[in-house]
Amino acid sequence: MKVVSAEFIKSATEPSQYPEGELPEVAFVGRSNVGKSSLINAITFRKNLALTSSTPGCTRLINFFKVNDQISLADLPGYGYAKVPVASRRAWQPMIETYFKRRKSLKTVVLILDVRRYPSEKDIDLIHWLRKYKIIPIIILTKTDKISKSQAKLRQHQVKEVLGLTTDPILFSTRTGEGKDTIWGAIQNSLAAENPHFIQ
Ligand code: GTP
Ligand code: MG
Repeated sequence: MKVVSAEFIKSATEPSQYPEGELPEVAFVGRSNVGKSSLINAITFRKNLALTSSTPGCTRLINFFKVNDQISLADLPGYGYAKVPVASRRAWQPMIETYFKRRKSLKTVVLILDVRRYPSEKDIDLIHWLRKYKIIPIIILTKTDKISKSQAKLRQHQVKEVLGLTTDPILFSTRTGEGKDTIWGAIQNSLAAENPHFIQ
C-alpha cells in the first residue's frame, strides 16, 4: 500500500479514551520487545511514529495511529517479559482484554513473533483466547535479519505446523525491509473481506 500520511492520534488505557470514528482498525500484539512498534514504523515508512526501545515494556498504553485517513492502527503493550515491572504486567491483561471485547471498529489482529523463538505459552494462550472472540490473527515472524534465509524458511514451516495455520506466517525484518508489502497485502485482504479475520 502506498502510505501518503501517517499520524499519531492518541494514547489510551480504557474505552472512554479510545479515538472515536469508524475507521477499520488493525491491532498489533506480541511479546514485549518483539518489535511491534518498530514494525508499525517500518510499514508506515516513518522512523519515530511509534516509540521503540531496546528495553522491554516500552509501550505501556494503547497507542492509536491513522494511515491515509483510511486505516486505524493500534500499537498494544507487549506481554511476557519478566523484567517488566509487576505493576505494568498486572495492568496488561485487563487493558488488553477490555480492548478486544469493546473495540467495535477492530477488524484485524496482527500477532508478531520473534523468528528465532518458538511461540511461547503466552503467545499460544493469546491465540486461543482470540479464537474465543472469533479472531484469527495474521502471524508475522520478525527479526529475520538475525538468522539465515534457510533457517527463517525452516522456522516459517515449523511455526505454521505448530500453530496449525492454513497460510504461511509472514517473514519480516525492519533491517532489510523484507515482508512490508506482504504485510500490507494481508491487512488489505483482511479488511476487504466481509468478515475479515473473524470466524463466522
Ligand atoms: P514493547 O513496546 O516493549 O512491547 O516492545 P515492542 O514489541 O514494541 O518492540 P520495539 O519495536 O520497541 O523493538 C524492540 C527492539 O527490537 C528495539 O531495539 C528494535 O530496534 C529491535 N528490533 C525491532 N525489529 C527488529 C528487526 O526486524 N530486526 C532487528 N535486528 N531488530 C529489531
Ligand atoms: Mg512497543
